[in-house]
Amino acid sequence: MAKASAPGKLILFGEHFVVYGMPAIAAAVEGRTVAEVVRADSYSLVDERPETPGYKAEKRGQQEESIGLMFKAMRLDRSKAGIRLGGDLVAASGVGASGASCAAIAAAANAEFGLGLDREGINRIAYEGEKGYHGTPSGIDNSCSTYGGFILFKRGASGAKSEIAPMASVAKPAIVVGNSGITSDTTKVVGEVRQLMEGDPERFKRMANEYVEISKKAKAALENNGIPEIGELMNRNHALLRDIGVSCRELEEMVEAALGAGAAGAKLTGTGRGGLMIALVTEDAKEKVASAIGRKGYKAEITGIGAEGVKVLR
Ligand code: PMV
Repeated sequence: MAKASAPGKLILFGEHFVVYGMPAIAAAVEGRTVAEVVRADSYSLVDERPETPGYKAEKRGQQEESIGLMFKAMRLDRSKAGIRLGGDLVAASGVGASGASCAAIAAAANAEFGLGLDREGINRIAYEGEKGYHGTPSGIDNSCSTYGGFILFKRGASGAKSEIAPMASVAKPAIVVGNSGITSDTTKVVGEVRQLMEGDPERFKRMANEYVEISKKAKAALENNGIPEIGELMNRNHALLRDIGVSCRELEEMVEAALGAGAAGAKLTGTGRGGLMIALVTEDAKEKVASAIGRKGYKAEITGIGAEGVKVLR
């Protein structure tokens, strides 16, 4: 039996703008998915990950498809493997749960069947697995889960390969993650943003310029551990996301509560119109910020970022 674990991710900068080829920055979180793969007489999948109610049942078909794609890419016979998933990463939208499980399964299968894949090879298999969930995944989630730390990601123009660069971040700030409790539809929201952008190219250009400046400064600030500056840039990124219409009352309420309780910065993360928000916090502010979000009626969790990528445990 072989066992491997991989972290989930959060997008720190650049959701939606990344769709148009601008660079996004994502970080690995502390929560991890653990996968055990064992040689067996018949295929089995036991999924013991904690979850947002209903998530696993809803994704089960895609999960089977995903595992099938990975075993095919590894040239392994799935009917000879037993898989068990666990760990403390809550399976939910926005935290890269599928990317983490793909990376962990790929690494555990690699170890159990002695395939000799390196990290890049594992990432390639995990990307195949992501296709079972998304159809045309960008690759940011599986890369973040595989390499860990911080990832600078730039989507390739139609058909071209995306650039995925691990980033040397010195800053490993704590993040409070607030959950709106609303599941949003990425395809729908991305489509609406596109309509808005195409309807007013001048405005889009102004926003794109502003975002590119934010992303450059954010990369430098992360590399130099400039917490106040990272926070300020998160606020600016959130303002842009609000302008393109992907925030909502619940996200605004959480952002306001977080800033009011002393967060260095706060923004929505991922698709928006629900989902998650993240607040950058110092050690002394983290509990206060999490309670302020809790008092508004939302679930809040504190996590470190920049966690280690996929690793074999046994
Ligand atoms: O909600 P998430 O974490 O899957 O992120 C979606 C990010 C978008 O930029 C909105 C879409 C995309 O494909 O990059």
